[in-house]
Amino acid sequence: MSDTWVLPSGVPDLPPGQVHVWRLRTDRDPAAALALLSAEERQRADRFRTGLLRARYVAAHAALRLLLGRVLDAPADRLRFRQNSWGKPELAEGDLRFNLSHSGSWAVVALARGIEVGVDVEVARHPPPMEVAGIAYSAAERAALAGLSGEALTAAFFAVWTRKEALSKGIGRGFSFDFTGFTVSADPAERTSRPVLPPDLAGADWHLHDLPPLEDAAAAVAVPTAGIGIAAWRFEPGLWGL
Ligand SMILES: CC(C)(COP(=O)(O)OP(=O)(O)OC[C@H]1O[C@@H](n2cnc3c(N)ncnc32)[C@H](O)[C@@H]1OP(=O)(O)O)[C@@H](O)C(=O)NCCC(=O)NCCS
Repeated sequence: MSDTWVLPSGVPDLPPGQVHVWRLRTDRDPAAALALLSAEERQRADRFRTGLLRARYVAAHAALRLLLGRVLDAPADRLRFRQNSWGKPELAEGDLRFNLSHSGSWAVVALARGIEVGVDVEVARHPPPMEVAGIAYSAAERAALAGLSGEALTAAFFAVWTRKEALSKGIGRGFSFDFTGFTVSADPAERTSRPVLPPDLAGADWHLHDLPPLEDAAAAVAVPTAGIGIAAWRFEPGLWGL
């Protein structure tokens, strides 16, 4: 993977064996974006507490639709979705897989053909919310954090968070997945790693890849097999008519 987010000159092809991750800022007037959303998505948007949260949801879901539509060569506003048993959104038809994450004004969208994918972005806070580690991190992850302080602790904390979330979202189990029952690397420098999985997933071959740096956030993607190429792209809403 490149160590920066690249602005592509066109829309890059997405061959099998590749994951494309797109990042975007979502703090924009969603007028053009709203037109792409389904009635159900608009209803969800209207339930947010603030205009800013609503705008972020609309911008992220419009970008998701535009990206899926471009890969499928289909109208973005016509795409239909369903959910797996644990709430992971999927396309109603075909083998194109995706996952979405948002935090603050960031959104990231991961796309892949024929393989599951999970992605997570998280704005880093200083100091990190260590109570989360008490609830959601494994004993080995907590031990790895125990000797750290200051910026090293924050970097390790959010590396663990985003790697765990990306994995749980790749597997697609949501809240029913026991976050304390698996372990990811707590070393921010280990940008590609393999998790230690619980017994019921022992045969799986999930790999974790940190995404290129974002100014104020950490991000990671999870893929279910070795040898997957990861490309990181910038989605500039203006270039997509938003
Ligand atoms: C929904 C969940 C999968 C992730 O939520 P999150 O990290 O708060 O938010 P993200 O922005 O990264 O992801 C939300 C998106 O994931 C997708 N999603 C929803 N359920 C999902 C599932 N079961 N699997 C994968 N993706 C899912 C949706 O597209 C959703 O966006 P939308 O609501 O705008 O459509 C859920 O497992 C969760 O909240 N887990 C938190 C567990 C925890 O305590 N983590 C602490 C740190 S490790």
